[in-house]
Amino acid sequence: MSRVYNFSAGPAVLPEEVLKEAADEMLDYQGSGMSVMEMSHRSKVYDDIIKTAEKDLRELMNIPDNYKVMFLQGGASQQFAMIPMNLMKNKVADYIVTGQWAKKAWMEATKYGKANKIASSEDKTFSYIPDCSDLPISEDADYVYICENNTIYGTKFKELPNTKGKTLVADVSSCFLSEPVDVTKYGVIYGGVQKNIGPAGVVIVIMREDLITDDVLEGTPTMLKYKTHADADSLYNTPPAYGIYICGKVFKWLKKMGGLEAMKKRNEEKAKILYDFLDQSKLFKGTVVPKDRSLMNVPFVTGDADMDAKFVKEATEAGFVNLKGHRTVGGMRASIYNAMPKEGVEKLVEFMKKFEEENA
Ligand SMILES: Cc1ncc(COP(=O)(O)O)c(C=O)c1O
Repeated sequence: MSRVYNFSAGPAVLPEEVLKEAADEMLDYQGSGMSVMEMSHRSKVYDDIIKTAEKDLRELMNIPDNYKVMFLQGGASQQFAMIPMNLMKNKVADYIVTGQWAKKAWMEATKYGKANKIASSEDKTFSYIPDCSDLPISEDADYVYICENNTIYGTKFKELPNTKGKTLVADVSSCFLSEPVDVTKYGVIYGGVQKNIGPAGVVIVIMREDLITDDVLEGTPTMLKYKTHADADSLYNTPPAYGIYICGKVFKWLKKMGGLEAMKKRNEEKAKILYDFLDQSKLFKGTVVPKDRSLMNVPFVTGDADMDAKFVKEATEAGFVNLKGHRTVGGMRASIYNAMPKEGVEKLVEFMKKFEEENA
């Protein structure tokens, strides 16, 4: 068996020991005589799995009791519709557009009400986070929406926007559990799990209880109402059971690693290795304004498309895979999520140095 260093933006690298454990339990989960894939989601065994997963996530993120945790399906994109359908009581919401995912969420919301784009960084290919200290927040806005870490462009909100008292909704898909968060600052935190936590398809929604009501937009399907899932503890229908089981294992792994403070430290160390190299390189350069740089997604370019392609090709051959940048930015992007070991980043930088020398 040989594992590569996988710099994919998602689905992405998971902790090897989690994968091994899952493999060990594949045929017989803890004496049940079956795989977690094969068991009833109403069984006692499965109930333990989902309840433990929720408990561990609550511990990791220090989630207060007045917030519900929901394990849903449909990926993060489904939330682009569920959020306005459930939260746009006044049919008004404010969106900060800092990348393609925020833009998609904003465009989806325009179907359901007045979705205002109150700030954007599209003028410079989303390479920075706009100043959000005094935005024209709408008087009657039901919420203010952000994508906290922009997977494609490699930017991150280092400070949350001043929402002037309005509910903050955040897509944290690509920075989920990468550092501590103060949950009380948000009304809703949600993310697809396929970057830092588990298999694609599962989306975790952490929502303040008072936002979960029957007062939703007319015509909202039962399955798209948060209340349906909150009332049933994520077991209204068959949940993505195996995916949730893997998420639970990653939560245990995170606890063992020292929790989110320790993850933050580790992620800062890893990102620094790469950014420090980029800042002195004569061949490669980062594309993001330094103060807004993400710890998770690091886009960089040489400025020459042929050289970029050569680099990606040679890197792939050397076992550093999925480094090709998003088509809208070009160049390269190294996603260095929680499960990417420091050694993976060190070896990538060594490889980049060598490539630079050879191609000077
Ligand atoms: C920040 C962010 N939001 C949303 C999505 C969409 O997720 P999904 O494919 O689960 O719908 C992605 C996917 O990469 C993402 O990075």
